[in-house]
Amino acid sequence: MNEPVNEPNTASDNAPDDQLTGHDYDGIQEYDNPLPGWWKWLFIVSILFGPPYFFFYHNGVEGRSLSDRYDRNLAANLRLQFDELGDLKADRAAVIKYTYQPNWLKAGKAVFKTHCVSCHGKDGGGLIGPNLTDEAYKNVKDIGDILSILQNGANAGAMPAWQNRLSTPEIVLVSSYVASLRGTTPSTEPKEPEGRPIPPWPGPPAEEQETETADASEDNTESTDAALEKETSNSESAEE
Ligand code: HEC
Repeated sequence: MNEPVNEPNTASDNAPDDQLTGHDYDGIQEYDNPLPGWWKWLFIVSILFGPPYFFFYHNGVEGRSLSDRYDRNLAANLRLQFDELGDLKADRAAVIKYTYQPNWLKAGKAVFKTHCVSCHGKDGGGLIGPNLTDEAYKNVKDIGDILSILQNGANAGAMPAWQNRLSTPEIVLVSSYVASLRGTTPSTEPKEPEGRPIPPWPGPPAEEQETETADASEDNTESTDAALEKETSNSESAEE
């Protein structure tokens, strides 16, 4: 302990000149070669830093951890976006409208990822809940039914009711996102179709015809005709 420490320790003056500690283990001797001071201090400081950091961020107090903060910022960001929607009415027309607006579908997807994937699978391919990408539905006969199922649940709570757990824009946008999943191919093995096949969704609303519609079906790109066909597409099953 009393020996001078921290002598320069380069390769040239390395071994032979170093002091020996005087320890002797079965004839093996030990050089006195202490850690550099900066290293030792880094070690001490990180020990001092660790426990307070741990207790501050990981003692279970709500809202302190990084992921809590991320969630809060994400929610704030969503709320900002939802302000743009104004007083959105939760009705069939709104669900149809946003089904054809890719930007808003992204917000619906965010809601889906948070609340629905546990039962419906990452891309809606189905787990406990049914496959949402195929043509068959158990409770849905019309696009508006998605909304009411989300609000009220289905099958005695097997599908929970979200009325009091999600805001109106969240419910509408996630309904639109679910509608947009129809006809897509999930990355995971999809669940068998349940229920009965239903007619295609109605086309995009006439006034808000967008050239860049969701990739739901081919005929959406024929922008002028789509509005006219909208009326008939419900009664006749267009392609299949
Ligand atoms: C606890 C598991 C669970 C969660 C979470 C869940 N669902 Fe479901 N969902 C189900 C089950 C089970 C059914 C089938 C109900 C039945 O048998 O009629 C279902 C049915 C549905 C249906 C009707 C499908 C059909 O074929 O009729 C839609 C649409 C749906 N869920 C959307 C969602 C959305 C959107 C979310 C997220 C906000 C969500 N679900 C969260 C379990 C869940």
